Formats: sequence, structure tokens, C-alpha cells
Amino acid sequence: MSSSQGFELRPTTTPTDAGQRDEILSNPGFGRYFTDHMAHVRWTHAEGWNAGEVRPYGPLSLDPAASVLHYAQEIFEGVKAYRHADGSVWTFRPEKNAARFQASARRLALPELDAETFIGSLKALVSQDVDWVPTPASEAEESSLYLRPFMIASEKFLGVRPSKEVDYYVIASPAAAYFKGGVKPVSIWLSSNYNRAAPGGTGFAKCGGNYAASLAAQKEAETHGCDQVAFLDAVESKWVEELGGMNLFFVFKDGRIVTPALTGTILEGVTRDSVLQLAADAGLKPEERGISIEEWREGVHSGEITEVFACGTAAVITPIGELVSDNDRLSCSDGSGGEVGKSIRKQLLDIQYGRVEDRHGWLT
Ligand code: COI
Repeated sequence: MSSSQGFELRPTTTPTDAGQRDEILSNPGFGRYFTDHMAHVRWTHAEGWNAGEVRPYGPLSLDPAASVLHYAQEIFEGVKAYRHADGSVWTFRPEKNAARFQASARRLALPELDAETFIGSLKALVSQDVDWVPTPASEAEESSLYLRPFMIASEKFLGVRPSKEVDYYVIASPAAAYFKGGVKPVSIWLSSNYNRAAPGGTGFAKCGGNYAASLAAQKEAETHGCDQVAFLDAVESKWVEELGGMNLFFVFKDGRIVTPALTGTILEGVTRDSVLQLAADAGLKPEERGISIEEWREGVHSGEITEVFACGTAAVITPIGELVSDNDRLSCSDGSGGEVGKSIRKQLLDIQYGRVEDRHGWLT
């Protein structure tokens, strides 16, 4: 049996036909199709982490009493693999995802996976399914292979305590732009009925529960004709936190670029961190601090705030067109999105796709 990165390889005997795969890669959408394999590592309280394997993609066999199904003891990550013009394949800052996965594991009382195994699992799966990494037809096309590592509590037990059996998997899905219309300004519903996270809760962790908690608000956004929902803090309903699955940035006309500070209720986005660095490189003045909903509204009205954008691994950088609430409609962009967001987006994609020097050593 061969192995890669310490992962035993058990290749599928029924790989997807090359013609069918190419058809999928020509229009993958987001999160709809999956590659032929997945990586897996099992952990038990008695033995710790077992050896990993890359095996055929397929349904999991899970006991109906598995605690993840009842108490949502689960965490995940999102990482993309990019194909460069020379055919080589790279991931972007996976060590940041590995560290965040460990922080999420601590919060959800799951075992920590060491960074070497985390990154090894990505490499082993991408090597096995490398033909599934799309080749972008042009600079305008941002296709990649989206990797989704996740960890679930799989012990058959209904008592409420940390599971003594856990499974870690990585699946992979060819991806185009996250939003259906490609890169165009999205409209945001400001949630006043729901909060995403509270102090001491799980807001900073990438766990399924945070996303489940955002869905009723997301439905509310859709009934108001909006693409996404923005959440305020749970204590004062005053401070802007983040969208359902993306961080926020505000560009000021004097060169400041502000994102809400990491207070424990906000996800520490890898793209967020990269935008802060690229903004500083470009001579802008990045600030991590509280930004209130009044400051957002007044800043847009007065012209102090010239752009607002959202960012995340899946969404890259997406301009915010409009902020909609019960009694207000605030236009944050002229419809084309803003120049600063566009420029940072281009710098980020140029690094990810190997079109410029990787001056921060972000590619693996
Ligand atoms: C990501 O950006 O990778 C996420 O996990 C967010 C989700 C909205 C797809």
C-alpha cells in the first residue's frame, strides 16, 4: 500500500470519468461537486490520533446516537488550492487554518490536531485528486479547489460530555465565485432580531453551530431581497461584528481601513488578516477597532466612508452595495464596488495564483 504525507492511499476503483470531470470543472459553482477521495484520521480517548488514510469519497457510516448529531460537537475549516500557470498547485497560509482549527477544537472540547497532520492531510488529498484543481481560463476567472477539513464527535453516547471518539476528514470541491452573480456588490440585511455570537460563546470558533445560528437571520435577509446578513454585538446591539460567513472592512477617504477588532465573538479570518497586511503594504492605515452602526451610517452619509466590503476564503473580497434595515436603505457603493477593495482583491488573487512574487511567504 502506498502512502503520501504519512497518509495511507486507498484509491477509488471507480474514478470519475475525465470527460465528466472536465464538464464539472468548466462550471463548478460553489460546494456542489466533490472529488473522488477524502482524507480521514480517527481519534479515540484511549489511543489518541490513529494513522491517516486517503480513501474513496463516499457517505459516512455514523451511529444515530453519535454525539455530533445531538450536541453539535463539530468544527471545520475552509482552504483553497490554486493552480498556477506552470501547472503547480498551492494552498494559501494553511498554517493559519491549522492554528485556528486547534483554537476551535479547544473551544468545542475536541482533541487538537497537530499542524503537520492538518497540512499533510491537505497535501495528501490534493496530490491524489490533483486533476480536480481547475485551471482558470483567464485572470478574471477565480476557480480553485475548495478544501473543507472538519472534525466530528462520533461516539455513540447521549450523555452531554466531550466525545471519546472523534473523526477528522477533509473533502474537496471545485469552486468558482461564491456568489452566483460573480463579483458584484451584494446587499446586506441588518439583523435586529438575531445575534450570531455572545461574549464567552463560540463566535471566534469555526463551528457548525455558529452557521446554524445565522440561518434564520439569513432567511430573513432573503425575504427582504438581500444576499447576506450583518450581525451586531449581542450586548449593546451597537457594534458591527460580521456577516453570516465573512468579515467586514470599511474604507475611509483619508486612507484608514477599519475592520472590527477580534473581541472573541468574531471569526479570525485568514483573508481578514491578509487584507490588513496588503492594505498596510499599499500605504493605507489599517485599524482593528470597534465600529458602530451609527459610524457606518454617518460615515456613508458624510462621504467619510467610501467603500465597504466583505471578505473570506470562499468569498475572497466582495463589495457591499447596500445596507438594508427595517426603516432604512443605505447605498454604500455606486454599483461597481470600490477601487480600494478591487485593488486589494487583485493583489490577493495575484499572490494566490502565483502571478506576482509571494513576498510574505504565504503559499505552501
Ligand atoms: C469560508 O469562507 O471558507 C467559509 O467557511 C465561509 C462559508 C460561507 C463558505
